[in-house]
Amino acid sequence: MFRRQEPIAAGSPSGDVPRHVAIIMDGNGRWARQRMLPRIAGHRRGANAVRATVQACGELGIEHLTLFAFSSENWRRPADEVSALMELFATAIEQEVSRLHEHGVRFRVVGDRTRFEPGLRKLILDAEATTCDNARMTLTIAANYGGRWDITQAVNRALAARAASGHADAGLPLREDDIAEHLALAHAPEPDLFIRTGGETRISNFLLWQLAYTELWFTETLWPDFGATDVQAAVDAFRNRERRFGRTSDQIRREAGHAGAAGPDVAPDSDERAGVPTIAGAR
Ligand code: FPP
Repeated sequence: MFRRQEPIAAGSPSGDVPRHVAIIMDGNGRWARQRMLPRIAGHRRGANAVRATVQACGELGIEHLTLFAFSSENWRRPADEVSALMELFATAIEQEVSRLHEHGVRFRVVGDRTRFEPGLRKLILDAEATTCDNARMTLTIAANYGGRWDITQAVNRALAARAASGHADAGLPLREDDIAEHLALAHAPEPDLFIRTGGETRISNFLLWQLAYTELWFTETLWPDFGATDVQAAVDAFRNRERRFGRTSDQIRREAGHAGAAGPDVAPDSDERAGVPTIAGAR
C-alpha cells in the first residue's frame, strides 16, 4: 500500500510535511447528481477516494489522517441515505481493516457511538483493538462527531476527573490542558493542515478546538475525484505557508536564523511567504 518505509519527522530537512491532516470529505452527492446517479453511488465512490487518500498520505509520511465521515447533523438526511452510509461504513471496516493492519495503520473512530447499531459498534471496537499497536500512521474516522459535542464532553469529563480526585479545589477553574486531554482526538497532535473538498469554505462543526492554528485549504474538487495529486497540491500549499502562532514574521525569521547552519535557509529579501520555513509540529 505504502511505498515509503519511514514517516518524515516534523521539522526534518526533508521538509515540512504536515504531521496531521484533517479532511472534510464533501461533494459525494453532487458527484452522483452530475452523473444522474443516486447519492449513495457518490458515497460509494467516496469510499474509493478514502482508500486513495490514505495511501497517498502514507506515502508522504503523514502520521495522522482524520476524516469527517458523518457529522452529528447528518442524521437529518433522508433515512435511506443515513442507513446506506452506516452500511457503507460497516462494509469499509470489514473489508479494509486487515489491509490497514498489514501496513501498520492504527484505526480509530471518534464521535458519539451510542447511536450506532450494536453490530457497527462491535466492528469499530474490534478494528481498534486489532490495530491499536500500529505506529506507522493513525487513521481516525470522525463519525457522529461534532466539535461542540466534543468540547462539551471533554469539559464534563474534566470536571468529573476533578471531582473524583478528591482535592479540596476539585471545582474550577479548569485550564485549557485539563479540557484538551479529554478531547476525542487527544491521541493526535492538533492538525497542521485542514482540507475541505467540494467548494464550500466552512468548518461545519468539525474539530472546533483543534483547528485553532491549523492551515486551511479548500478545493472545488468533489470528494470522489480527490486523490494523490490533490493531496500533493494541498501539502505543497501548506509548505508555502508561514505559521506564526501569534508571533511576528520577523520573529519567525530570526528564530529560523538562530537555528544555525543546520536550520533551513531563509532568503533575506524573500517576501513574507516565500522562503520562510514553516514550523510544522510547533504549537
Ligand atoms: C459529504 O458529501 C459526504 C458525507 C456526508 C459522507 C462521507 C462518506 C464517505 C466518503 C463514504 C465512506 C466513508 C468511509 C469512512 C468509509 P455530501 O453528501 O454532503 O455531498 P454534496 O454536498 O455534494 O451533497
